[in-house]
Amino acid sequence: MKILITGGAGFIGSHVVRLFVNKYPNYQIVNLDKLTYAGNLANLKDIEDKPNYTFVKGDIVDASFINSLFKNHRFNAVLHLAAESHVDRSITNPLEFVYTNVIGTVNLLNAAKELFKEDSSQFVKFYHVSTDEVYGSLGETGLFTETTAYDPHSPYSASKASSDHFVRAYYDTYKLPCVISNCSNNYGPYHFPEKLIPLCINNIKNSKPLPIYGKGENVRDWLFVEDHARAIDVIFHKAELGTTYNIGGHNEWTNIDVIRLLCDMMDEKLGREKGTNQKLITFVTDRAGHDLRYAIDSTKLQNELGWKPSLQFEEGLSKTVDWYLKNDEWLNNVTSGAYAHYYEKQYSDSNK
Ligand code: NAD
Ligand code: DAU
Repeated sequence: MKILITGGAGFIGSHVVRLFVNKYPNYQIVNLDKLTYAGNLANLKDIEDKPNYTFVKGDIVDASFINSLFKNHRFNAVLHLAAESHVDRSITNPLEFVYTNVIGTVNLLNAAKELFKEDSSQFVKFYHVSTDEVYGSLGETGLFTETTAYDPHSPYSASKASSDHFVRAYYDTYKLPCVISNCSNNYGPYHFPEKLIPLCINNIKNSKPLPIYGKGENVRDWLFVEDHARAIDVIFHKAELGTTYNIGGHNEWTNIDVIRLLCDMMDEKLGREKGTNQKLITFVTDRAGHDLRYAIDSTKLQNELGWKPSLQFEEGLSKTVDWYLKNDEWLNNVTSGAYAHYYEKQYSDSNK
């Protein structure tokens, strides 16, 4: 089985690549990534020399590049994670999200469709990794299920919703064997420090202000990233074609409560007096169109495929903070931008 994983140098993608490369030595894993600001090959240092792993630098928006990559490698399956993923960036530059998340996804679907058309027994799965943000925002109660109507509010979630629709359309129209999952907020090692949790870990470490949008009352449902990767593994291998699974931690927190917990935890870990870090909390202008609450019902995944989250939030957050405190070099390279040129000599577009 030769599997193309897109976006494997990003946060979640790197955990998925690591899991597949280590757990399935008989699979050939090809990681395709453009290495945008969010892609960092240092995330995969521990597996880069494994015989069943190959990295290819390239852009999913470039259709002719994608078509020749598929022709050369004749993949048996695709696990698609590459995306522009940060809501705030989508507010300032929506088109970048349309290119990568919508057009990039359709380019991959087209290339997969050609392989499937040539030999439907050889191309077996197109797995599209998506987000709970496509469902919009909840009020005080209720949970997103797989049948909740799509109602995206940000350019990011609108682009992900659009890509989900295309994947379903290719299943219905061309019978392309597709599966989709929609997951809640992830946290854990290798998370780019523009997102709430790693941003605040880094700022606490450096005694800088912690920017909380609005009143900090927005609710997110946090899941440890390795639990998401395990869910993707289970869904990839067991899900019926044409289906969707929601993935989430049943772990809702207001932003302000997450940051207070993080502050107290890091007071202890950094040997600071209790209450020191909470003084860094700074309420700032709210995000435009800020969704109030996300919460996932993952009953279908738990009942049908037997997955469940493995970590309590406090335990996962503590592990995450320890990882960031231990991996100073990774964090410094990412915040300084030094990582961007790290592997340039080793890899180039020519290895496609
Ligand atoms: P990320 O931003 O950390 O990583 C995205 C990766 O995609 C990067 O390595 C980047 O270089 C690559 N990439 C971007 N544009 C590309 C292009 N045009 N061609 C090739 N590669 C490109 O994102 P993440 O947080 O790891 O999210 C991965 C996927 O999971 C996304 O599809 C996202 O929508 C989805 N998701 C994320 C979360 C979350 O909490 N982070 C939750 C649910 C779903
Ligand atoms: O729900 C899944 C989604 O989770 C993924 O699809 C996205 O790719 C991922 O980025 C994440 O989106 P969010 O917008 O929820 O994550 P973010 O870390 O940006 O913000 C989490 C919450 O914290 C949100 O309510 C906005 C708030 N926030 C964020 C930042 C960066 C702040 O209050 N201050 C900040 O500085």
